[in-house]
Amino acid sequence: MRILVTGGAGFIGSHVCSRLINENHEVTIVDNFDPYYDPDRKRRQLDQVKRAGDFHFYKVDLTDKEACQKIFKDQSYDAVIHLAALPGVAYSVKEPLAYVHYDIEMTINVLKSAGEAGVPHVIFSSSSSVYGNQEGRPLTEDMADGKVVSPYAASKFGAESFCHSFQHIYGFRLSILRFFTVYGPWGRPDMAIPKFADLLSNRLPIEVFGSGTARDYTYIDDIVDGVYAVLGQNHLNETFNIGYGEPVTMERLLKNFEKFYPDMEMVQKPWRTGDVVQTWSDISKAKTLLGYKPTVSIEEGIERTVRWMNSCTK
Ligand SMILES: NC(=O)c1ccc[n+]([C@@H]2O[C@H](COP(=O)([O-])OP(=O)(O)OC[C@H]3O[C@@H](n4cnc5c(N)ncnc54)[C@H](O)[C@@H]3O)[C@@H](O)[C@H]2O)c1
Repeated sequence: MRILVTGGAGFIGSHVCSRLINENHEVTIVDNFDPYYDPDRKRRQLDQVKRAGDFHFYKVDLTDKEACQKIFKDQSYDAVIHLAALPGVAYSVKEPLAYVHYDIEMTINVLKSAGEAGVPHVIFSSSSSVYGNQEGRPLTEDMADGKVVSPYAASKFGAESFCHSFQHIYGFRLSILRFFTVYGPWGRPDMAIPKFADLLSNRLPIEVFGSGTARDYTYIDDIVDGVYAVLGQNHLNETFNIGYGEPVTMERLLKNFEKFYPDMEMVQKPWRTGDVVQTWSDISKAKTLLGYKPTVSIEEGIERTVRWMNSCTK
């Protein structure tokens, strides 16, 4: 298949593109090396994709409508995987309008361009944050009601709505994937696990925000499996949770790090506005309809991440 991946130089995008190339798909990547985190790191992530094989590359800012349309006119695609976004809950509290610009306007550009070009399948990367603060039970896809707690989540929830409206207008197959806290090699440097691994490997203390939190941490290989599985399906318009299916408490996460860094130091910080208390995915729909089956436990995933951190120059 000919597949266009937006945000292909990013953490998830670079892993997805490597997998697609390894599976012999023809891949086109669009990324503008946005400075939300170090653009040089994104270039190195793209170098990882190059190791898998050749791909076409556009350095284009997808908030530019005409530039976005041109990419879709240059050649035809069987699917677009839209991963480009401004991520990060904490930053969205400071700069909410940036999220409207990136995560809504840019998504509209991609959806409209894909629809006009007749792309048959659009895959949108959404987030567990669309469920807001709902604790104590696994989250099924129908539990997102718009009562979110951060501008990032609001932009993802809004972007999902735009996905549905353009699906209705153009009739493409739409798959919305709600990722749950993704980690692993090349993990995004603003997120807890990569931050902890980096600080601890440099013998520095880590900061923990709030108490009683838990996250459904999902290893990158499982996320890539979920994205890959959706490419082969024929459902017209479906939303899927792509998680591991288990909430891991901060205490359990820290115990896993302690195995590798027994002298680790931790500084307790107050609760951060915009953060939810717990995430916990119900993945039965993805299991049934996609054959999705995550395999990497938090114990195994942290071990692999720490091994990666110690073995490479980031
Ligand atoms: N990492 C997670 O835990 C997680 C969880 C839920 C959802 N998501 C979503 O998955 C997607 C990928 O996340 P990630 O963690 O890989 O983030 P990332 O920041 O590493 O990747 C996003 C990529 O998009 C690119 N990009 C941003 N704005 C762009 C623009 N205007 N034009 C072209 N490219 C642009 C960036 O340069 C970056 O390479 C995002 O949509 C994110 O919201 C991620």
